[in-house]
Amino acid sequence: MVGPDSIKRADAGQLAAAAREIKRGKLVVFPTETVYGLGAHALDAKAVAAIFEAKGRPNDNPIIVHVGSIAAAKELARTWPPEAERLAKKFWPGPLTLVLPRNKVVPDAVTGGLDTVALRVPDHPVALDLLRLSGVPIAAPSANRSGRPSPTRIQDAYADLGSAAAVYLDGGPCRIGVESTVISLAGPRPTILRSGGISRVAIEKEIGPVADAPRTGKALAPGMKYRHYAPNAPLVVLDAIQIRQRWKELDEEGRRATQWIVSRELGMAGNNVTVVGGRADVDVWARRLFALLRDIDARNPKTIVVEQVPETGLGEAVMGRLRKAAAAAKDESP
Ligand code: TXA
Ligand code: MG
Repeated sequence: MVGPDSIKRADAGQLAAAAREIKRGKLVVFPTETVYGLGAHALDAKAVAAIFEAKGRPNDNPIIVHVGSIAAAKELARTWPPEAERLAKKFWPGPLTLVLPRNKVVPDAVTGGLDTVALRVPDHPVALDLLRLSGVPIAAPSANRSGRPSPTRIQDAYADLGSAAAVYLDGGPCRIGVESTVISLAGPRPTILRSGGISRVAIEKEIGPVADAPRTGKALAPGMKYRHYAPNAPLVVLDAIQIRQRWKELDEEGRRATQWIVSRELGMAGNNVTVVGGRADVDVWARRLFALLRDIDARNPKTIVVEQVPETGLGEAVMGRLRKAAAAAKDESP
């Protein structure tokens, strides 16, 4: 399906070419352990502006800066509190993003004018090679058009962004499948702004109790207020009992017009039923979620029904994404 010249399995030559493009202000799609990123030279405001353009991203939504090491992160932050040291040592490279007061070298374009910067070291050899070879911090949001599910496969990024990126580095499917956890260490107490690849429990084991961002208002990661993760078809999240009920209520045609994304425990089968795994296999749900939403949406269903999963570990991030996808569908219904 996808095969433009710009998509290459990331070998040494491709990596070198991608690093050159980053240095001269062009955009590169690259794999991380969470989702694919759309990267640009983070200290080049014009290059960063091109990210917003390519994604159709509102420009008050700041972008995560990827670095190769704790030392490189410290150069971009004005303060480095003990919690940052503990979390970075424990979880980097990995799916945790730290929001800290920013150093002035970080352009406004990256932070949406905020006085903070979001930093992470990604846990993927291609991403780390790209950072090392380009020798600069790389600003990178997820490589989707704004509002679409994040890409966990290179072809999903290409479908959304096409020729907007100079190079696509293929690293295969992403291992985790949901984005990094974003935690702010810039306020009076550590606050989770977005759930993601590192669970709350794991974070609290390192630094003690953390606060949750209010559901609305300023403390939330700015991006969380926008339409997100949304397939085109309306999506509803139901528990097992509600799914059985709905199945019973629908006639044959209604059942067929619905795409069902369910756990093995429900015992459902059919062309339009996708069994993700066991209900408690939240890591599998996380890994498959965004690609499933894209694939299933391509079948033009009338509705997508997804079974809820327990909010333990990655389950919290999965349910966060599903709630946003469901809310986006509601916003758009007449
Ligand atoms: O796993 C990930 O985090 C992926 C990969 C590519 O690293 N990136 C990603 O970026 O998900 P993006 O732009 O799709 O989401 C970044 C989130 C947004 O909700 C944004 O508002 C928030 O992080 N964010 C970025 N900088 C911030 C800051 N200074 N203060 C508060 N929130 C910030
Ligand atoms: Mg995103």
